[in-house]
Amino acid sequence: HGPDTYSPTGQPTGAPRSRMAQDGAYLTTAQGARLYDTDHSLKAGPRGPVLLQDHHLREKITHFDHERIPERVVHARGAAAHGVFRGYGAAAGITKAAFLAEGVETPVFVRFSTVLGSRGSADTVRDTRGFATKFYTEEGVFDLVGNNIPVFFIQDAIKFPDVIHAGKPHPDREIPQAQSAHDTFWDFVTLHTEATHHTLWNMSDRGIPRSYRMMEGFGVHTFRLVNSKGETTLVKFHWKPKLGVHSLVWEEAQITAGVDPDFHRRDLADAIESGAFPQWELGVQTFPDTEDQMFAGIDLLDPTKIVPEELAPVRPIGLMTLNANPSNFFAETEQVAFHLGHLVPGIDVTDDPLLQGRLFSYLDTQISRLGGPNFGQLPINRTHAPVNDMLRDGMHQTAVHRGVAPYRPNSLDGGCPFLAGADTGAYIEVPAQIPATGKIRDAAASFDDHFTQPRLFWLSMSPTEREHIVAAYTFELGKCWDQAVKERALKVLANIDTELCRQVATGLGLPVPEASLPSAVVEPSPALSQLGEDWPVD
Ligand code: HEM
Repeated sequence: HGPDTYSPTGQPTGAPRSRMAQDGAYLTTAQGARLYDTDHSLKAGPRGPVLLQDHHLREKITHFDHERIPERVVHARGAAAHGVFRGYGAAAGITKAAFLAEGVETPVFVRFSTVLGSRGSADTVRDTRGFATKFYTEEGVFDLVGNNIPVFFIQDAIKFPDVIHAGKPHPDREIPQAQSAHDTFWDFVTLHTEATHHTLWNMSDRGIPRSYRMMEGFGVHTFRLVNSKGETTLVKFHWKPKLGVHSLVWEEAQITAGVDPDFHRRDLADAIESGAFPQWELGVQTFPDTEDQMFAGIDLLDPTKIVPEELAPVRPIGLMTLNANPSNFFAETEQVAFHLGHLVPGIDVTDDPLLQGRLFSYLDTQISRLGGPNFGQLPINRTHAPVNDMLRDGMHQTAVHRGVAPYRPNSLDGGCPFLAGADTGAYIEVPAQIPATGKIRDAAASFDDHFTQPRLFWLSMSPTEREHIVAAYTFELGKCWDQAVKERALKVLANIDTELCRQVATGLGLPVPEASLPSAVVEPSPALSQLGEDWPVD
């Protein structure tokens, strides 16, 4: 676990957790005065009225009145666990990140989530799942904020508010909770066809996982690793569950949502409590850091594309074991704050426009969700590395800073001894080249193809998996009111595969449209077409 208590300067003291709260034999006020009665308010006589001077009544009710904080704007419902990550050393040649070295053990905290439902929604709905990992490394916190689906709906973060507005319940009735079965979702994903690939994964069995313990995780974006010689490698991160990938069938998912809406969080907590610790291997697909950042015709900066594992195998670089449940949901699972900008030396970002927007969004939203800029001091968010920053004051400041000169250089607090060079473990951004070009809002032409990879995904499915996909589209689109949206969705399916489109159209009782795209666009690129019809995605 993370450190439990902190000295006034914010360093862990190692004192036991019980000193933080609920200590001592007597019930007290928040100020420590012992109470003799917490069930009756102070009144002018046994039948009242109640007196304003009852400070215990006011403290108790006022604190309760302010117990809630805003839920996350997305990924509101989640469950989490503590664990440990052990590096294999296999990535030592491509990254200097110390926690990936052989045998190094690093505490982690992982939060799994659904995306669209609110905090009280059911676990087994059809949705993407979040898979966010906080590594408390000796070089600072590293967050890998991923999902259980390797691609995303959009290619540019500027559309994130739009896709979420479309996916969240309708603003008039706030229906449905965490289901893609509604008009605005289908309206968006059929008008923004870059969403086709992610939507197809959602309609596959991947959208209804059996357990958090049986999900893959993906960093989605391409990241840039750098080794001690300054050499760089592009990578995609993958979590592979030791228990394998398993899904529910739709009927199970629906019944379970009613019978046990907490199914996934219960499953995770029960498994850990009984000693069946879930494990994942962390792996990377590696690509040369070429000037165009393409691999086998695939734009590595386009988060709607995968790189098939046949073209770039996933190499295992470490093992994560989740071995302890949180002891307080609010303090840990609710207050944890992940951020793609939490990077350690050896790991850097790329220019993927979705990733770039995320670098802004997480800190920004957490400032309002967690009430100001000091949530990094909360026990669950606190780094295990020493902190010596120049951030001061602000809402909910708990550190008592020393010195008078929070700026560098200064001549009052010991000058400027704290800036580290590259050789002393500083985080130094890779000086990646920016192409000489004018400002532009257009996307790259390499982002235009929205159908090749959905088609390959469909072709890689077994007959049973295809049946499930057809049933999912038919069910979800069947819940739409707007005829034009359904017809547009069928046109999108026609561009993926004629048979998929025909079966869904038959299920919906609608005519089968023609594919609107020339087959050249639908055909796989030369590198991908070598993979053939039985291209596996697992
Ligand atoms: C939350 C993943 C895209 C904004 C999350 C969480 C995950 C996640 C796992 C839950 C974190 C937790 O458990 O606390 C992803 C992935 C994305 C993606 C894999 C695409 C590859 C985006 C984009 C934006 C965004 C493009 C905005 C531009 C947010 C926000 C939260 C969030 C605001 C709530 C954070 C909080 O309140 O703590 N995301 N996300 N995400 N994401 Fe994303």
